[in-house]
Amino acid sequence: MRLLENNIQSYDFYIEKENMSHQILKGLQAPVKSISSKFLYDHRGSELFEMITDLEEYYPTRTEKKIFTESIEEITKAVGDVHTLIEYGSGSSNKIKALLHNFTSLKEYVPIDISREYLFQSSLELAMQFPHITIKAVCGDYTAPLTLPLEEEGKKVIFFPGSTIGNFEPIEVRNFLMKSSQLLKEGDGFLIGVDTKKDILTLEAAYDDAKGITAAFNLNLLKRMNHELGANFDEEQFEHLAYYNEEKGRIEMHLESQCDQIVKIGESEFTFHEGETIHTENSYKYSIDEFQMLALECGFRPSKVWTDDEGKFSVHYLEK
Ligand code: AVJ
Repeated sequence: MRLLENNIQSYDFYIEKENMSHQILKGLQAPVKSISSKFLYDHRGSELFEMITDLEEYYPTRTEKKIFTESIEEITKAVGDVHTLIEYGSGSSNKIKALLHNFTSLKEYVPIDISREYLFQSSLELAMQFPHITIKAVCGDYTAPLTLPLEEEGKKVIFFPGSTIGNFEPIEVRNFLMKSSQLLKEGDGFLIGVDTKKDILTLEAAYDDAKGITAAFNLNLLKRMNHELGANFDEEQFEHLAYYNEEKGRIEMHLESQCDQIVKIGESEFTFHEGETIHTENSYKYSIDEFQMLALECGFRPSKVWTDDEGKFSVHYLEK
């Protein structure tokens, strides 16, 4: 533990299990090629994602923000006398400021993120702005088992905005919710943003915008592999593909090979046929009922849900 300001502590629990190169090679050697969506977020990828959140077509970020703004009083009331707020990820400075402001009983705020620099930077900022709240910045992977430096007493609430949960596979999402519930006592809560099922045109436009920012975000993965893994992907020979898989209830992003080609990553060679894809992301969508059922199966009682007029996005409050 390291003291940064009076009211801030940092903890470093991050250990990479397998390095990026190993994980990517494994995914590309499989019969159906895929790369985990977490690799989309290098420095440039994070910049491009920021740009995505401002796009006309990309409704989730804006809609979630609107829900938090319009329903903050109700959300505050539902959450009640929270002592400890744990945030999975720490990318949502606007939303978190609103919560830290309104949750007046709050004593500790515990953001958990693997991006060390971003985490400590935003934590420092918050520590100065909220001197009465102890900030425990945890560098770590919130999907892995973690022993968090939490005070025993008081109500705990986990905050997981942005529909990041959409990236989890059905098995992962259950494990994740059940693990999260184990951090909590009866009466503690989980405040989570979830993107909803809606018409296919709206969904597909959000992941294939007219300006091509999402395409650049997806294709940046090839640039990243070229720079970091010594690969020789030709960006011109791949195309961004995004479509809604209705049966699975998810948007899929792929990079589609435009010809038969062989690509090198370091010493390894990979064959691509024309039309073959690398699956780079799944973004699952849940109707309100579906998500509440899922929460119930995993040890939570769906207590409240807020949505916008068009039902484009949802914010759930679940109680253990
Ligand atoms: C950060 C996972 C919520 O799934 O909407 C945006 C990522 N990918 N455009 C999403 C993303 C393409 C985003 N999440």
